[in-house]
Amino acid sequence: MSSADPEIRSLTPGDREAVRQLHEASFADEVAFDDIVLDRVFRHWNTLNLVAETEDGIVGFAAALHGSRPKARLLTIQTHPEARGRGVASALLAEVQRRLRARKADVLELEVHVDNEPAIELYEKRGFAIEREDPAAYPSLDTSAGYVMHKQL
Ligand SMILES: CC(C)(COP(=O)(O)OP(=O)(O)OC[C@H]1O[C@@H](n2cnc3c(N)ncnc32)[C@H](O)[C@@H]1OP(=O)(O)O)[C@@H](O)C(=O)NCCC(=O)NCCS
Repeated sequence: MSSADPEIRSLTPGDREAVRQLHEASFADEVAFDDIVLDRVFRHWNTLNLVAETEDGIVGFAAALHGSRPKARLLTIQTHPEARGRGVASALLAEVQRRLRARKADVLELEVHVDNEPAIELYEKRGFAIEREDPAAYPSLDTSAGYVMHKQL
């Protein structure tokens, strides 16, 4: 895959299949959204859906939920395995935060599995702090614990 900077833009209906495949490549079955949940994410009026695109196609996806409350939630963020370590997730996260600030959100919260070191490091480097541990955040996994992390926007 090329190392060109990705363009970060809103998801369009034509991106759905590419994002579904990216999601499949990025997560283990036990933690991946199934098709029904993914469809709901795409269709929900208050979900902010962003993709990262290079000449190779869609290499990253992020979704955040923000309604009328000041707190927003990062639902998912992922980079294609072959495009990792090149700032794709960081660029998506920066744009998610920029758009949420413009929508007057003041806190971004997320949940991450306790063993997901790349993701925890990404979040800590970008200013998120661990708020608490949720022992049953991932009931489908042997180690079910997750961290709830948050950042002031
Ligand atoms: C976590 C994930 C989104 C990171 O995507 P990425 O595009 O590779 O991230 P970036 O290149 O923007 O890296 C940003 C920071 O994350 C950290 N990081 C990324 N990959 C890492 C790894 N393998 N090990 C440790 N830290 C890592 C680094 O601190 C990096 O900072 P640096 O660039 O200053 O070194 C990606 O590994 C992924 O898609 N994982 C599977 C899906 C997932 O678990 N998503 C999170 C769910 S909560």
